[in-house]
Amino acid sequence: MPRPLIIDTDPGVDDAVALVLALRSTEADVRAVVASYGNVDLDHTLGNAGRLLALTGRTDVPLGIGADRPLVHRLDRRATLVHGEDGLGGRAAGLADPVAPRPGSGIALMAQVLEETTLPVTIASIGPLTDTALLLATYPHLADRIERIVVMGGSIGGGNVTGAAEFNIHADPEAAQRVLTQDRVPVALVPLETTLACSAGPDWLRALADADPVCAELAAMIEPVRAVYRSRYGHDAVALHDAVALLECVEPNSLVARPIPLAVDTGFGPARGATVPQLTAPDAADLPAVGVMAAPDVRTVLDAVLDRLRKA
Ligand code: RIB
Ligand code: CA
Repeated sequence: MPRPLIIDTDPGVDDAVALVLALRSTEADVRAVVASYGNVDLDHTLGNAGRLLALTGRTDVPLGIGADRPLVHRLDRRATLVHGEDGLGGRAAGLADPVAPRPGSGIALMAQVLEETTLPVTIASIGPLTDTALLLATYPHLADRIERIVVMGGSIGGGNVTGAAEFNIHADPEAAQRVLTQDRVPVALVPLETTLACSAGPDWLRALADADPVCAELAAMIEPVRAVYRSRYGHDAVALHDAVALLECVEPNSLVARPIPLAVDTGFGPARGATVPQLTAPDAADLPAVGVMAAPDVRTVLDAVLDRLRKA
C-alpha cells in the first residue's frame, strides 16, 4: 500500500531532486505539495513547485500556498547564491508552465489531506519549518493522523548558513523549536552532517544526466550548485540534502535513527538557529527525543536515490 505523503518544500535545486524522487516512487502516494519561502521567495518557490509537478506529469497532485515569511522574526536571507535567482539554477524559465496552486492556504490543504486520510500521513518538511509549526498549532486534533514528520535540517556539528546553524532551522528558529520539541508527533531529523556525507560525485551526476529527459533536466539544474560546492568545499561533489530526506520517507529505515532530545537556539547571538543536543540536560529523560538520522552506508543511499529518480 503506497504511503501517504505531504511535502512542504522551498524549491530549490535539491528540493527539485527530492520532489522527482517522491513523485516517481511507487511506494509514495503524494497527497499534496506545499511551497513556502526559503531558498528563494514564495513567488519563485510556488512557481518552481508547479513546474516540477508539470515536468513529472503529476498534475494530479494538489499544490498549496505556504508561508511567505517566518512566524515571528522576519528574515530576508535567501540562498540565491546556491540555487540561483530563480531557485532552479537558472532553468525555471525553460520549464513547462507551472501547475496552478489551490486557492486558500497550504496549511488548510495539509489539514484537508489529514482529515480525509484513512492511513497515517508522513510529512516531509524540507524547507523552513514555518508551515509545519503552523499546521501543528492550528490543527492539534489532527496530530494523530500524522505518522511522522521527516525534517531535512539542523546539524549536530557546525552549520552551513552560520558556523552553528543549518539553513532551514536558521530561517525560522521559533518554528523549528515548536516542531522539534513537541511530543505529539514523532520527528525524524535528517541533519546536515548526514546529507553532506551523502554528497553525489561526478559518476553519480553523469548517470543522472544520462538517465532520461527529466533526470537530464535535474542534472542541468545541479550544475551551477556543483560549481558552488567545488569552490566552497574544494571537491567535486554536491549534497542533495532534501533527496536524502525523501528517500527516508519513501523507503523507511534507509537511514538509522539515534534518539536525541534537541533544543533550538532562538536567541539573537551567533548561534541563533542551532539545534543543540540535550542528552546531558538534568531533565533529559523527560524531554521528547527526535530521531537524528545517519546513513549506515553512503553508497547504498546514493544508489537508492538514483534508482528512484530513474524510475519513470
Ligand atoms: O541546508 C540545506 C537545506 O536548506 C535544504 O533543504 C536546501 O533546499 C535549503 O532549503
Ligand atoms: Ca529545501
